[in-house]
Amino acid sequence: MWMQQQNKTFKDWLWPFWPVVPIYPYSQRRTLRQEIISNTIWTFEQLQGIFYVVVPIRMTVIKLAQGGLLVYAPVAPTDECIRLVNELVEQHGDIKYIILPTISAVEHKVFVGPFAYRFPKAQVYASPYHWSFPLNLPLSWLGFPPDRTYILPKDSSQVPFADEFDYRILGPIDLGPGRFAEVALFHKQSQTLLLTDTIVSVPTEPPAIIRLDPYPLLFHAKDSAFDLMPDNLETYRKGWQRICLFALYFRSSVLEVPPWGQVFRNALKAAEKSKKAYFGLFPFQWRDNWPQSFAALRRNGEPFVAPILQNLILNRAPQETLAWADQVAQWNFRQIIPCHFDVPIPATPKQFRQAFNFLEKDSASNNNFIVIKDQEFINDLEMKLEKAWLLPPAQPKI
Ligand SMILES: [Fe+2]
Repeated sequence: MWMQQQNKTFKDWLWPFWPVVPIYPYSQRRTLRQEIISNTIWTFEQLQGIFYVVVPIRMTVIKLAQGGLLVYAPVAPTDECIRLVNELVEQHGDIKYIILPTISAVEHKVFVGPFAYRFPKAQVYASPYHWSFPLNLPLSWLGFPPDRTYILPKDSSQVPFADEFDYRILGPIDLGPGRFAEVALFHKQSQTLLLTDTIVSVPTEPPAIIRLDPYPLLFHAKDSAFDLMPDNLETYRKGWQRICLFALYFRSSVLEVPPWGQVFRNALKAAEKSKKAYFGLFPFQWRDNWPQSFAALRRNGEPFVAPILQNLILNRAPQETLAWADQVAQWNFRQIIPCHFDVPIPATPKQFRQAFNFLEKDSASNNNFIVIKDQEFINDLEMKLEKAWLLPPAQPKI
């Protein structure tokens, strides 16, 4: 009986195409549905990450006034995910529109074709300026249904959902071998702004989707290979906050990597030596002041632009980015739903616009000493990529 139940669960979470983007949680992706606005907006969260640095990835479903649903940034259409979507379809009508709001982020792009395949009546609207790596393939080759895939026009009044939504496209920003673009979508009735990667807010507590299987939290809460962490909320919180530092800075100033000889020696005496625990290898050592770095990163929950986007992407096109942010800030939204980290972010257009102040000269947002120090690794990466001609030079601040 238990085995039967277990097999059913595994099948429910199965994502057979995981080798296309081979990241955690691989073939077993759980989905968590959350109602953001009663009977109007739902988010569907799954996880993604490497080396147990796991963060939520999110799709948003919005009920249309005339019946039916709109989907922004689909996640993996596992049986569980489809069942949870179909519960909404039964109540509110078919999925009419599916939006792919990015061109570069493969973690969002990869699910659109398979998701659309499960909802054959839906029209797919993709952000313009697509490209794929290593070959620049047409969208139909990436599994998008050719007979019902459209490119979002620049003029947002030209789409069939224009009465309820408005959108602005950032980009394309030239990144050398690739390009970046993102579609900000505004749902007028609920005053909600949907974004993909440009804005995040970091919660103090681990998101519910990560707590379904807290092993990554336990892993990163360790101070050394010898630790076996108690399974409690305090451990989860510690693990989560360190995961945020990893995910957003790669290597913050408060993280040291001990010599590999020591890492291997410690592994021999590690508390956990299973394959799941990377055979006891734990190449991290956190300085005591890491919580200050987390607090500086978090900015009291204010929306902000992830350091990688600040330093590797949006600073290639400050003028275009600020013009886009100014346009988006014209909408009267009261909350933001991004595709990663916290949701929903209560935010005014002014708070949203402030998040892009880092592109302006003499902005106070550029002066946080701890943040500056923690961004050094990404700044270094920027220099290396520019030197190798893999990234065009940054443009001066405005
Ligand atoms: Fe993303």
